[in-house]
Amino acid sequence: KEIQGFRKALLDWYDQEGRHDLPWRKKRDAYGTLVSELMLQQTRVDTVVDYYNRFMEALPTVEALAAAPEDQVLKLWEGLGYYSRARNLQKAAKYVVNDLHGNWPQSSDDLAELPGVGPYTAAAIASMAFGEVVPALDGNMYRVFSRLLEIDADIAQPKSRKIFYQAVAPIVDPEQPGDFNQAIMDLGSSYMKTKNPDTLHSPVKEYNAAYRDGIEEQFPVKSKK
Ligand code: ADE
Repeated sequence: KEIQGFRKALLDWYDQEGRHDLPWRKKRDAYGTLVSELMLQQTRVDTVVDYYNRFMEALPTVEALAAAPEDQVLKLWEGLGYYSRARNLQKAAKYVVNDLHGNWPQSSDDLAELPGVGPYTAAAIASMAFGEVVPALDGNMYRVFSRLLEIDADIAQPKSRKIFYQAVAPIVDPEQPGDFNQAIMDLGSSYMKTKNPDTLHSPVKEYNAAYRDGIEEQFPVKSKK
């Protein structure tokens, strides 16, 4: 019951207040999701919007990316940094087009086999483009759920991923897993951001254990490396 109430509060809020104007949210295909998620890994949303639009205009399909000269791909990436992301992106496109005949892997496990695609990106694509019910665990997700559920696992420790996965997987909305993940991202960059969160007005305040207990600033737990 609580889980259902949480999902409804989150998704109702997302419907009304989510950032639906973000270009990669307009259509849900694997290619656009891969491009946007790789860009978003190390770059802010506001910066990514223009890069994403330019990239998709120049190379609108996975086939176009696979066939493009590497120079063009790197040029489109110029300014985003971390050029290995761009090289891996094209490698992934070539793999999908040449080895898989354009048929995308659809599960998060299979997507994680693509070059440059880690567990987060694989889960993001699987949930958003293919409807797989998995949490896309990134820093946002850790912050939000460590507070909601008072999870004190150290997020600097790789083994904490499993703890979060087990806690969050049953909460992901089975009907709208992609929207659920993106709603958490929006929550994590607004009411539940790192500094000065505005939990008082958060749409899921009543589900926030750390807020209720007045210990929100203790989460997430992160040791110095
Ligand atoms: N950060 C990472 N992925 C995102 C997405 N799909 N929308 C907004 N912010 C994000």
